Amino acid sequence: MRVLLIGNGAREHAIAEKISADAELITIMAKKNPAIAKLSKKHFICDINNPLEVSACAKDLDIDVAFASPDSTLANGITDALDKIGISTSSPTKSAARIEWDKEYMRSLMKDNKLSGRVEHEIVHNLKDAKEVMTRLGNVALKPIGLTGGKGVKVSGDHFTNIQGALSYANEVLLKDKKLLIEEKIEGEEFSLQVFSDGTHIYDMPPVQDHKRAFENDLGDNTGGMGSYSTGKLLPFIEQNDIEQGRKILQEIVHAMRKEKNSFKGVMYGQFMACKGGVKVIEINARFGDPEAINVLALLKNSLTDMFLSIADGNLERPEFSDQSTVVKYLVPEGYPTKPIADSPLLIDEQKVLASNAKLYYASVYEKDSVIYTSSSRAIATLGIANTLEEAEQKAQIACNAVKGKVWHRKDIGTKELVNKRIVHMKIIRQGAGSDGQ
Ligand code: AMP
Ligand code: GLY
Repeated sequence: MRVLLIGNGAREHAIAEKISADAELITIMAKKNPAIAKLSKKHFICDINNPLEVSACAKDLDIDVAFASPDSTLANGITDALDKIGISTSSPTKSAARIEWDKEYMRSLMKDNKLSGRVEHEIVHNLKDAKEVMTRLGNVALKPIGLTGGKGVKVSGDHFTNIQGALSYANEVLLKDKKLLIEEKIEGEEFSLQVFSDGTHIYDMPPVQDHKRAFENDLGDNTGGMGSYSTGKLLPFIEQNDIEQGRKILQEIVHAMRKEKNSFKGVMYGQFMACKGGVKVIEINARFGDPEAINVLALLKNSLTDMFLSIADGNLERPEFSDQSTVVKYLVPEGYPTKPIADSPLLIDEQKVLASNAKLYYASVYEKDSVIYTSSSRAIATLGIANTLEEAEQKAQIACNAVKGKVWHRKDIGTKELVNKRIVHMKIIRQGAGSDGQ
């Protein structure tokens, strides 16, 4: 089997590792990820958001199935371009990926089909309407309609404390995009639920909790994600019923999209909030989460190649996952997220990582004269996997300590202290506080 993967981050390193375990891997990357290149039989470097460049690399390679991974490649129609040259694909078309790149489409689809998990929202085109909607909804989340790399959302209480602050951000977005999504602010605990979809059926993966805020105790700016953990079939603060609601919402979305002849094939990832009144949708993504992919792929027992083939065929295979805990921590350059220091060398003690049974997944790094250097984004993800969350966290921590250089990470991810805070918070939410429109 020959599998084509498009993308070059830590998430794609984890996907590449899984594919190369049982198939020949060909990759197309925007920048050379030295770890992915090592796993690939052949790799190409080009603009992975340009359909013409990607198809020029991919043609005549005798590919059995292809998977375009990052959101921007999907939004730029890379799957469609590969389909056009006769390559079978297991990622969504541009039109199906719209569920992520157009939040107006996602919210309208949910509203028109009366799907569960909706939040109050409004699209506005001018400041006057923005003010009116904010006054009506009270606490709000302000969102640009398109892709923002996880950094465009601003929320009452976190990023602004009064209507002036909210209007100032609304103005910024309106000047740029001419429209803005305003949602009611909901309260609860967030979890990520990823599913495989063949356009009709879905099968879910273990739930994961990501940590978006840059600093310990969830302070600082939102980032692409600083780390994540999973604990088997449930997370410590959620119940079976929450997972079932999340799965039902994703199944309803897949059905609604199929009904309007916009079938979603690939990985769909629901970013949910467990609230007092049930599970609500924060965002729907058309891909694996980063870092969440690293958590779940470490537990997947099936061949990922077979999963991809079954998606492409429209005959989804049932995935099985081992029931262990995982912790992922991202090492990021000093100064991240505002002023990251790039081009700084990292000294990596591979033996120490191996000895602790942990793993490293390369993200934004490059290799020069056999030395790994940082770029200006998240550098390396570390993974600990074990029978308990405590052990998994310790392993990820050992791996972090095995990398020396101008990088740092959130030490609190996966620790008992932080997880207990989530449990207590969820208990308070379920007991009655929390504004989720109920
Ligand atoms: P996103 O970029 O959509 O992942 O949003 C970033 C963060 O903003 C999420 O992780 C949530 O913590 C928060 N957020 C987004 N939408 C809402 C909402 N409607 N209510 C409360 N918080 C939200
Ligand atoms: N975990 C955040 C994202 O992948 O968007």
